[in-house]
Amino acid sequence: MRRPLVAGNWKMHGTRQSVDRLLDELCREDWPEQVDLMIAPPALYIERCLSALASTPLRLAGQTSAWQAEPGALTGEISPAQLRDAGCEYVLVGHSERRSLFAETDESICRKFAAALACGLRPVLCVGETREQRDAGATAEVVGSQLQAVLDVFGVGGLAQGVIAYEPVWAIGTGLTASPDQAQDVHAMVRARLALLDDEQAQAVQIVYGGSVKADNAEELFAMPDIDGGLVGGASLNAEEFGAIARAA
Ligand code: G3P
Repeated sequence: MRRPLVAGNWKMHGTRQSVDRLLDELCREDWPEQVDLMIAPPALYIERCLSALASTPLRLAGQTSAWQAEPGALTGEISPAQLRDAGCEYVLVGHSERRSLFAETDESICRKFAAALACGLRPVLCVGETREQRDAGATAEVVGSQLQAVLDVFGVGGLAQGVIAYEPVWAIGTGLTASPDQAQDVHAMVRARLALLDDEQAQAVQIVYGGSVKADNAEELFAMPDIDGGLVGGASLNAEEFGAIARAA
């Protein structure tokens, strides 16, 4: 039986003062036991979060990482080994904002996926289509291609060591949440694609939904058979709402 995962992506938000306030509120939330829980703060605050959340089941993630584990002359980058050393257990890979704003490609995403696995991190592979691609009926083609690029290298077994996050780009930060049926259709397509290669492993892969997940829509989304939780952006910056979303899983 797959455990649900509820993750918070803080993106580029927070100051030491606001992070300390949020951490204090997160420590006062009542967290569900049968749910994997994770937050991805800005890297500057990972250690701050690690110590503040030590008494909670919340684990930590990097929002991205370098494409190599080894130390090197990569100014500004953070290696997955350093994220692991700082206490992270996950790292987001290929978030749509990294693909669109920082020109990340399937090739660089595969390198980052490999480096994360090599360092004992669970990579969270983000896939999703734009509004134009959905309107053109190309959702399955786009998401399938993003998935296949990683499948070709790591197989279902490699993906099963990580997490897949379906985040329709048109739902990110817009308040336009995919309907449960829309999201379930894509999750089911993803799982069916994996099952063609290895059904047992396919059933084990956590596939979470991201894109305007809120306390008032989480339960309906998470009730769908192939939606194994959520990757939450804006709502994860509010401890009470993030706690409510976690309890809905
Ligand atoms: O990675 C999660 C994020 O992209 C979703 O953002 O604000 O729509 O929940 P939001």
